Amino acid sequence: MNIFKLSDFSLMSIEEILKLAAEYKNSERNLNFNYGKTACNLFFEPSTRTHYSFDMAEKKLRLNVINFDSASSSLKKGESLYDTVKTFEMLGVDVVIIRATENEYYNKLVPSIKIPIINAGDGTGNHPSQSLLDLYTIKEEFGHFEGLNIIVVGDILHSRVAHSNIEVMERLGMNVFVSGPEEFREEGYNFKELDEFIPKADIVMLLRVQNERLETKMNISIEDYHKNYGLNLKRVNNMKEKSIIMHPAPFNRGVEIADEVVECPKSRIFKQIQNGVFVRMAMLDIALSK
Ligand code: CP
Repeated sequence: MNIFKLSDFSLMSIEEILKLAAEYKNSERNLNFNYGKTACNLFFEPSTRTHYSFDMAEKKLRLNVINFDSASSSLKKGESLYDTVKTFEMLGVDVVIIRATENEYYNKLVPSIKIPIINAGDGTGNHPSQSLLDLYTIKEEFGHFEGLNIIVVGDILHSRVAHSNIEVMERLGMNVFVSGPEEFREEGYNFKELDEFIPKADIVMLLRVQNERLETKMNISIEDYHKNYGLNLKRVNNMKEKSIIMHPAPFNRGVEIADEVVECPKSRIFKQIQNGVFVRMAMLDIALSK
């Protein structure tokens, strides 16, 4: 089955993926069920975490792995996304993992592509594997979602992580708020001033400024961004005792997060990255078996 966005999935299906991920993390699952099948990672945008944690997840599942190199491919001769994916289908690939710049690029691929497609991020649209690993990390920490207060801080407008997360977190009964400079705000989300909300937050989720998606430079200087919206130790000291800090990464030290906060005791940033492998194993399992 395809995994394009979490809004296509019921809460029961999302809980099922998280449970499967926990079984992989606890080494309770058979790793050989897809032995001999082939996964192809097609990243048309830069990626470190998503690309290589899918790669790691595929290797742990004993899949054969093809890592498409867009720079040396026939894309350079003008080949389209559709023709590239169709080619890999015809080569015998069993599942494709795709990151692309265009929102909902996958609509161009269905129904002609018959193999499962996992969306590894589409433009400013959705990032389902990131959301699932974020949910996994939250559940691991708190044991539940209902009633948790989260504030998502930064470039909401251009963030597929924010768009994916806010939709599913609200469905799961979390109280979701956003903060950040006016130029990055989006209609329909509940805005809070960061310093007022920090003492009430269970989770402070920081976002990177998506410079690559801005048409011009952001209006606010980096110094002012850090001063007004950056998570520094002073703000961390105002957080609740059991609250945590999350960030999808890559992070800009000294912009949205102070250097000394990246690995402070409340930070789960590297834990998120670690959990991403098990969540992506679960996604591959579901995509290949349903
Ligand atoms: N969080 C995330 O999507 O990181 P990458 O862009 O490195 O994959």
